[in-house]
Amino acid sequence: MAFHDPADLPPGDPTVLPADAVIAVDGPAGSGKSSTARALADRFGLLYIDTGAMYRALTQAALAAGIQPGDEAALAALLGPVNLELRPSRGETTVLWDGHDVSRSIRTPEVEAAVSRVSSHPEVRRLMVERQQALGRKGGVIMEGRDIGSVVFPLATAKIFLTATPEARARRRHLQFRERGVEVDPVALAAELADRDRQDSERATSPLVISPDAIVIDSSALSLEQQNDLCARACLVNPTLDAAIVNDPHSARVALPFQYRLAYGVMQTIARFYGLRVYGNRGLPVTPGCILAANHIALIDPILLGATFRRSRVFSLAKAELFQPAWPNGRFLRWLDSIPIRRKGYDRNAFGEAAAGLASGGNLLIFPEGTRQAIGHPGQVRSGLGILVQETRAPVLPMFLRGGYGRRCGGSLESPLEVWHGPLLRWHAVDDLLAQMDRRAVSERIGQLCRAAWCELQARSFANHPETPFEKELGQKQLRRFAARQAKLFGG
Ligand code: DC
Repeated sequence: MAFHDPADLPPGDPTVLPADAVIAVDGPAGSGKSSTARALADRFGLLYIDTGAMYRALTQAALAAGIQPGDEAALAALLGPVNLELRPSRGETTVLWDGHDVSRSIRTPEVEAAVSRVSSHPEVRRLMVERQQALGRKGGVIMEGRDIGSVVFPLATAKIFLTATPEARARRRHLQFRERGVEVDPVALAAELADRDRQDSERATSPLVISPDAIVIDSSALSLEQQNDLCARACLVNPTLDAAIVNDPHSARVALPFQYRLAYGVMQTIARFYGLRVYGNRGLPVTPGCILAANHIALIDPILLGATFRRSRVFSLAKAELFQPAWPNGRFLRWLDSIPIRRKGYDRNAFGEAAAGLASGGNLLIFPEGTRQAIGHPGQVRSGLGILVQETRAPVLPMFLRGGYGRRCGGSLESPLEVWHGPLLRWHAVDDLLAQMDRRAVSERIGQLCRAAWCELQARSFANHPETPFEKELGQKQLRRFAARQAKLFGG
């Protein structure tokens, strides 16, 4: 269900937007992203970054140098050493390519015709995404593009997917050209726009997709003012929900049953012994009713993660084999609210029990990769997380764990031991996605976002404490071992 009317969203209080907010605005060409992102930058005092202008600048430099839009290596070599600057100014951003102002020449029909091809190359995108992340990492930005919410900033404070019918978009683009004194054939323009949509959405690397946590806004029938107002409200939805969360560690402590107090005591002692550091939870307990989705690297993970929950009631899913024999293993795990799950196929009972736990205000800890992965390399997420999200719509807290592998008693210095709590992912776009694709594809998209969130938390952790030689070496060794095991199993 895309939003059409400003009254569909609560007005929100502009002061709830944090100073380090990152706002991601994605959508197809001509949907009005630039005008709106610029207006919101003014309204909230954010830095506006037009990532399309970066791909356009590369395209125009390539055309000028006689480089073919399909020549990935030459494009990457051209971009690598260049100083590409975006300077906010009134009206359009000033774009400087090695000091030369290219703001106008990147808006020509020639560049327009080649830019999708240029931006489809994985190496070009890798280099651009690196630059974009560096521009926005400190926050206080609004960034516009195609993959900002899904790839560049998977943990953005707010994600807006702005769309409009192809006719409305072609009409707007035609007007834009006319204002700049360029006359183009409207029919050819519409066809070219449709072709660009197709190329941007079908490319293998970071295609234009609706992130499942984005707020989708259809601007076809809106005036610019209405569109800006609706988008401004959309920016405030997550911060408003965050501000409304009541975190009362004291009452949580009183309400917990005996076994929890015991378990938390043990887990926190172990975590202290190993020197665990926690980031991103602001010292608060985890939000009631959300799914805690953690990467999995070692058997000790549940204990280290558990030490950071701060006395919430947490259900967990564990493979059914662990509950055998029923006494003492099964009884003990059930006592700690573990739910046995068959790892093959869809275990209706386990999912039902998990959903009931969430509905009662508890949390649910899962390891969505299904099994342990090589350190430093978060794995693909299985369908279980997407199924749970579709059935419960519970928000997901991505959690990234680092350093639990290869530690010795007393704590080794070979890797920092850290747990990172991400911001909550809320599933604003799941209904829109279900209207366009099947449940399996929606699960896949939810899984991709969760993995992107871990990668971002890992990048933050590495920015704080760089990856150690021990971690690098062990990660590589594990990757080789896993690949060999796969090859043996599947004969690849
Ligand atoms: O938003 P725009 O029309 O200026 O974008 C120009 C092209 O760049 C568009 O065809 C898709 C591409 N692009 C992209 O692939 N990823 C982005 N983040 C931004 C733009």
